[in-house]
Amino acid sequence: MAVRATAVRVTAVRAWECLDSRGHPTVGCLVTVGSGASAAALVPTGASTGQFEVADLRDGGDRYAGLGVRAAVAMIEGEIADAVVGWPVDEVDEVLTGPSNVTLGVSTAAAKAGAVAAGVPFWRYLADGGPVSLPCPMVNIFSGGRHAEGGGTVQDYLAIPTGATTFAEAIEHVWRVRRRAAELVEAEHGRLWSRLVADEGGLALPGGDDERPLALLASAIADTGLPVGIAIDVAATQVPDPEALLTTLTRWCADYPIVSVEDPLGDNDWTGWADATTRLAPRQVVGDDLFATDAERVATGAKYGAANAVLVKPNQIGTLTGARAALLAARAAGFRTVVSARSGDTEDDTIADLATGWNAGQIKVGSVHRSERLAKYNRLLRLETVDRLPYAGWPG
Ligand code: PGA
Ligand code: ZN
Repeated sequence: MAVRATAVRVTAVRAWECLDSRGHPTVGCLVTVGSGASAAALVPTGASTGQFEVADLRDGGDRYAGLGVRAAVAMIEGEIADAVVGWPVDEVDEVLTGPSNVTLGVSTAAAKAGAVAAGVPFWRYLADGGPVSLPCPMVNIFSGGRHAEGGGTVQDYLAIPTGATTFAEAIEHVWRVRRRAAELVEAEHGRLWSRLVADEGGLALPGGDDERPLALLASAIADTGLPVGIAIDVAATQVPDPEALLTTLTRWCADYPIVSVEDPLGDNDWTGWADATTRLAPRQVVGDDLFATDAERVATGAKYGAANAVLVKPNQIGTLTGARAALLAARAAGFRTVVSARSGDTEDDTIADLATGWNAGQIKVGSVHRSERLAKYNRLLRLETVDRLPYAGWPG
């Protein structure tokens, strides 16, 4: 059954400056539609941003050390509101252009308001009668790089619940791995280090060693005895010598139960990526900065055989329509899809519905700590228990 109501039109757009999980300013947006229904969205912000993603707009100057977003707010309430008021909610993205923090809040809030007006949950509105599933989570356990400055160069060491049959079980499995990892950190570095949390709620280690977090994660998984695999996000665009790290990574793949690797190379090296994908196969090889959630870049990657999975971050492309196009391009190429939050995120749980309603298969929103992360997991736990949606599981 189609649930779209194309007659629903935007009547008002409001925006405000609020704060994200790093305490940095970000944009909140409220869209009201003809029936009187309204919905809000808060925009996330990355730290390891790639050169191909749509930039956001910052005020500069003294307020919030230059990170203010009053100019973005003014654009939304000015020219953007002028452009979208009167438009059908389903077509708003067609007229949205500009910095990502100007477009994404409007795009998301408009779509959510459409769902409210249609009287259906957002995931169902997004699915539009198609299949839905709760995504398999890849959950941050250790952080480095831009998410835990002062640590190593590799950005994320994550746990993937490979044997869970429900989303609730998946979360409980990785929770036990994180708890065991924290115990191992406490034994090695003391209580303080085991309690500090990085930007995405993960643990971090003192010193710059890139292998130590991996070894500790592998030990934590072995100690729990649970069916959990390891994912690594190198975020190579932030790494000074990605080629050397790739050699190390290949060795790690032989020594540790790694099932997924993200951004092992820079974002312009299509042939290097194709080589790495062949070398790392049959593992999942995820392109984040490589694709920048851009359908055209995904199509290029498919041509080269670069990566076999796409990270989908709506604010990299600026609208939900753009993000969905990247997801569909990935699916057309036979690539897997992982809907992802940003390292600077908020209590907005919309991407839980995106991953579910778009049947993405996987989600990456950080650790099982910090409420901006748990907002997404808690939404998915509710959808499984209350709405009885099926769990996708790890694709193997
Ligand atoms: P970011 O990190 O949000 O800081 O870009 C997330 C990632 O690289 O996957
Ligand atoms: Zn990444």
